[in-house]
Amino acid sequence: MNRIQKLLIAFLSLSILFAAVVLSRVWIFKPQSTVKLVKLPAGEYDTETWGKNYPLEYNSYKKNIEMAVSPAGYGGSIKVQKAEMQPELYTNFKGNPFSKDYTEDRGHPYSLEDLRESKRIGPAAKAACITCKTPYIEQAYQEMGWSYANKPLNELMDKTKHPVTCANCHDPETMGLRVINPAFIEAMQKRGIDVSKANREEMRSYVCAQCHSEYYFEPGTSKVIFPWDKGLTPQQMYEYYSTKPNGFAQDFIHPDSQVPVLKAQHPDYEEWQNGVHGQFGVSCADCHMPYMRKNGQKYTSHWVTSPLKTMGESCSPCHNQGQELLFSQVKAIQDNVWQLQHTAGQKIARAHGAIQQASTNTAANQTEITNARELLRHAQWYWDYVAAANSMGFHNPVQELNTLGQAIDLAQQAIDAANKAAGTNTL
Ligand code: HEC
Ligand code: HEC
Ligand code: HEC
Ligand code: HEC
Repeated sequence: MNRIQKLLIAFLSLSILFAAVVLSRVWIFKPQSTVKLVKLPAGEYDTETWGKNYPLEYNSYKKNIEMAVSPAGYGGSIKVQKAEMQPELYTNFKGNPFSKDYTEDRGHPYSLEDLRESKRIGPAAKAACITCKTPYIEQAYQEMGWSYANKPLNELMDKTKHPVTCANCHDPETMGLRVINPAFIEAMQKRGIDVSKANREEMRSYVCAQCHSEYYFEPGTSKVIFPWDKGLTPQQMYEYYSTKPNGFAQDFIHPDSQVPVLKAQHPDYEEWQNGVHGQFGVSCADCHMPYMRKNGQKYTSHWVTSPLKTMGESCSPCHNQGQELLFSQVKAIQDNVWQLQHTAGQKIARAHGAIQQASTNTAANQTEITNARELLRHAQWYWDYVAAANSMGFHNPVQELNTLGQAIDLAQQAIDAANKAAGTNTL
């Protein structure tokens, strides 16, 4: 071998060695140590204990306590009253505790604290409210079945100090994903879906859907039910509620208009599932729990917050348009949805006033007033479906803009019907 050949071989060996080191750090998924420091028995709800085995996930989970405004100006992880931006909430939820206290959602570690401090909760509140706030729901349901739901809230709040934690989404023995909310499991069963057979991709959204969905409390028992028998769109859920399921007729009666109002509760899962990302199989975790790397280790981020804070990890694996352009697209969607949401909310507030005014007229046509109330109930459900979901329309812009358009039309029809009933219609 001559000198040049030797040099070439040395150079090649070094290059291979270098490439191997780089590849092993960048590409190969190095699992965390398989030696588990602590055993996690069923019923272990303390994140700190889980964190001993899974420090990377635990440290990212701890970031959920961070409070920050959203990069795009909607949502955010700060406890502000939603009515600050939308004063029409005071009118539309008059007679309901949501008009007193309705704050923006923040990180999972605050779930129990925010429930305890909510001015919506009085001494008569039922334990059904803890269903989506703590893994203790697992134990409560095992011990009492659905009868836990009708117990006083304070009684069950005293039994746990754990907010949404690892055990809500993971089986402590296998670390596989799981769902523990019995209301979700039952609702899916009724749709013919056995969630215990769900694959990993589906579970990456089901773990969220068990809480981020619309529900109501069954009168008398406070059992939590998801209104999905007819489907998950705003129209299908409205049709379901129109049958007065299990004797449930409304969340409250509006004191001015006497409309039996349905209060929507965060239908994030419903909104997403037939949007473009839901239809194309992009799971909640893909955006809200992206993969991260630390010292060559790849792990799932457990900082579950606005994906606009982590667009490089959350969106770039699929979108190559560049972050700035993508961000401005999200902002444009949200600005458009916000504008129509605000318009719809204000028109609904005016409709409550129009019906109240018509009702004070003793000569008013009662059939027409009943008609106006039904139109307004429908309008308010459509508006609230969008307003109560948390993404300002991003999860499904086409459906949400359509729903708000219909809300505005129905509210106008309610105003026209009220005016006609009172004989003040100029049409
Ligand atoms: C809101 C649901 C949720 C909560 C709460 C949660 N996880 Fe996870 N976790 C997930 C999802 C989703 C994945 C991705 C699983 C997959 O794709 O197979 C995951 C993955 C993991 C993994 C597998 C390795 C990895 O990083 O992908 C570990 C370990 C883990 N989580 C630990 C924890 C610990 C510890 C806690 C509590 C501090 C916790 N998780 C809380 C949903 C959750
Ligand atoms: C056990 C019920 C439960 C599960 C499971 C759950 N969430 Fe939540 N989530 C909540 C509650 C309750 C809040 C509001 C907490 C508060 O405001 O105090 C919340 C808040 C949030 C927020 C707002 C955080 C912020 O920074 O403003 C996001 C985003 C979120 N959840 C996404 C998800 C995703 C994605 C999943 C699944 C990977 C998931 N959640 C699973 C109950 C749950
Ligand atoms: C394609 C990515 C993507 C998917 C998939 C996705 N989200 Fe989102 N989500 C977003 C974006 C973007 C926002 C808007 C964040 C903002 O305004 O700062 C958002 C907002 C939210 C918020 C409100 C956050 C806040 O700051 O208050 C919640 C809660 C939420 N999503 C839950 C879910 C759930 C549950 C699923 C699955 C059923 C899901 N998301 C699927 C991207 C996604
Ligand atoms: C797993 C892949 C995947 C991820 C992750 C993902 N997207 Fe998408 N996104 C898609 C697909 C597929 C489409 C539809 C086809 C298309 O337009 O290219 C889409 C469409 C969109 C659209 C146009 C459609 C609409 O709803 O107006 C926007 C905007 C968008 N994504 C933003 C985001 C943002 C922001 C994130 C990160 C928070 C994100 N996406 C994460 C796959 C993904």
